[in-house]
Amino acid sequence: MKKGIFITFEGPDGSGKTTISKYVCEELTKRGYPVIYSREPGGSEIAEEIRNIILDPKNTAMDVRTEALLYAASRRQHYVEKIKPAIERGDIFICDRFVESSLAYQGFGREIGIDAIYELNQFAIEGKLPDMTVFLDVSPEVGLKRIESRSNKDRLDQETTAFHQRVYAGYQEVLRRYRDRMHVIDATQSEQTVKDIALQTVLEWLEK
Ligand code: TMP
Repeated sequence: MKKGIFITFEGPDGSGKTTISKYVCEELTKRGYPVIYSREPGGSEIAEEIRNIILDPKNTAMDVRTEALLYAASRRQHYVEKIKPAIERGDIFICDRFVESSLAYQGFGREIGIDAIYELNQFAIEGKLPDMTVFLDVSPEVGLKRIESRSNKDRLDQETTAFHQRVYAGYQEVLRRYRDRMHVIDATQSEQTVKDIALQTVLEWLEK
């Protein structure tokens, strides 16, 4: 069995990432795997404080580069405090979003450019990329429809359809660049089907 593994879940808003990644984490724990679950932005006390600033709907004046820097700052703190130590201990670290979210959202969504965002994040993560990424695939239209009824929409949930379409295009580029570690699942299927496929995909990869 592999040790010291970093697995991330990615997808557009409304892809069901959080539900699916938590389920996979619980099932792996039941099977005796040493799993740690976390999320970005956030995942440590300081990083969660930065998350609150980024996602606060009242921060409408936030510049797109400020936003990119804050995501990277939050990632740095999370990486140093939680991700790096867990991987060094030999645990399996499962994270709901990581640097690919910045490549898609800030690189494409905010039109800063994927290479600029990649460089910026290098300072935060010192070259560390996930070993495996599960991408939950839903079109921006379906994703947005799913989050439509949320009462507590954050600053990014409130973005335009055009923004979310650019994010989706960004993810397509991310999938092309990192195709070796990307596992794409059609997330328009029923929740139980997506859960089953995601768990199976991760288990098979871990035991390979
Ligand atoms: P969440 O809804 O998965 O908790 O993420 C919050 C929002 O932050 C979501 O709209 C995606 C966005 N995001 C970025 O724009 N860049 C990033 O690097 C990360 C981690 C999230």
